[in-house]
Amino acid sequence: MLDGNAGFFERFGAVGAEAQDRYVTDWSRDLTGRARVVVRPTSTEEVAAVVRHCAEQNLAVVPQGGHTGLVGGATPSPEGGEVVISLERLDRVREIDAENFTMTVEAGCILEKIHAAAAVADRLFPLQLSAQGSCQIGGNIATNAGGLNVVRYGMTRDLVLGVEAVLADGQVWNGLRKLRKNNTGYDLKQLFLGSEGTLGIVTAACLKLFPKPTQVETAFLAVESSDAAVALFGRARRDLSDLLSAFELLPRRGVELGLTAAPQARDPLEAPSPFYVLMEVTASGLLDLKTLVERFLEGIVIDGLVADGALAASGAQAAAFWQIREGLIEAQARQGRHLRTDVSIPISGLASFLDRTHAALADAAPGCVPLAYGHLGDGNIHFNVLPPAGLDDVARVALLYRCEAIIFAEVDAASGSISAEHGIGRVKRSAFLARTPPLDLALLRKVKSALDPAGLMSPGRIFE
Ligand code: FAD
Ligand code: LAC
Ligand code: ZN
Repeated sequence: MLDGNAGFFERFGAVGAEAQDRYVTDWSRDLTGRARVVVRPTSTEEVAAVVRHCAEQNLAVVPQGGHTGLVGGATPSPEGGEVVISLERLDRVREIDAENFTMTVEAGCILEKIHAAAAVADRLFPLQLSAQGSCQIGGNIATNAGGLNVVRYGMTRDLVLGVEAVLADGQVWNGLRKLRKNNTGYDLKQLFLGSEGTLGIVTAACLKLFPKPTQVETAFLAVESSDAAVALFGRARRDLSDLLSAFELLPRRGVELGLTAAPQARDPLEAPSPFYVLMEVTASGLLDLKTLVERFLEGIVIDGLVADGALAASGAQAAAFWQIREGLIEAQARQGRHLRTDVSIPISGLASFLDRTHAALADAAPGCVPLAYGHLGDGNIHFNVLPPAGLDDVARVALLYRCEAIIFAEVDAASGSISAEHGIGRVKRSAFLARTPPLDLALLRKVKSALDPAGLMSPGRIFE
């Protein structure tokens, strides 16, 4: 819907109502809203002009990347008053500095494009997630995305050296430094990491690069219990000299479901096992990685840490293992509305957390299918729940809320976090506000009002 500002917004790639679907409905299609207008500026200056205009007209703005965030941060509100600013046309790689191991990119660059550009320069940008064909680096920064390689390289927060952002009043803040060490005052760029669009609009970033791995070993291992998987993780870190780049936990049901959406993959091991670990180890340079991994595998079999396992014999076989992990997300999406969580707790408490939460759900929601899987190496589990078939929408949503409360209570008891990866947005807002101490909230609100005194940047996300 365009209004008195229509002429202004037309100059910035306004999207007609008939083509707005992907900007107003998120990846999961669970969340949908209405936009006052969707604009697609092509430069930092254009983003600044739009934001300045919105500040003058008192219009709320919502920055949007690939719209793969799962908590309603980028989806316009149902009331239809917000200006959606899509960053998709700010998609230039501004510079690759191979010697400094950095690259500077615009916010709308799709993550996969960044991987490809780094690889051409014999470098690696290690942030990796299943949404990488659609999510944008600006969205990754705004959500402080995690993904598969955090265990080795850290979260997005650890991978960003500089940020350029448009502030709530339309000023451009240039924090595009390439320095690894810089202690001159507060680290302002970090304000934007995980800010979910509430403090400003990221328009560009300087990213850390790493040597491109030349050796990759991928193993699919059967373990008897989540306890055994945790023990295996400690052993792998030590024996593999911390060269683990991914360490994912999958329950048997997760593998079965993943296979339904991964037509090229087959069950990697003969006998079923209660849990599996999908593990990747990478190295560049002079190390003999294959021998190291083979010796590690021999040791864990002799010591009875794993029941069975397969080491990928080719890139194609490794890719087939990963298709099961990716297929699991797709297969859940095909089941319709379900509960997604992204909780974290200290790894030492993970196994008992999983046991307690499974027991609590079995008691309180016996018809539901729990699916707990994910980034065990980071203590980050997607404890998801598929509801039974045949419920109407209202009953389904009520049941999923009950399951979420049960899971979050166990997270609290284990001193964990209700969001390790996806952020708060609007979906997790009440759960977040209910368990955030008053002093923390007061500090967070001070930061918000210092950067966005009029409250026009993504209102209703994180805070009321
Ligand atoms: P969007 O969804 O467009 O936006 C997300 C938030 O960031 C919103 O609040 C939005 O307003 C804000 N935002 C977007 N761009 C900007 C900008 N330029 N400046 C300021 N704010 C901005 N997440 C993980 O952490 N780990 C995973 O492993 C993972 N796997 C996923 C797999 C699938 C299949 C899917 C669908 C999602 C997955 N996610 C994962 C969630 C999601 O991909 C990430 O949160 C991602 O970082 C979002 O990027 P986006 O460009 O799609 O952002
Ligand atoms: C995953 C996403 C959903 O790891 O975070 O599957
Ligand atoms: Zn995840």
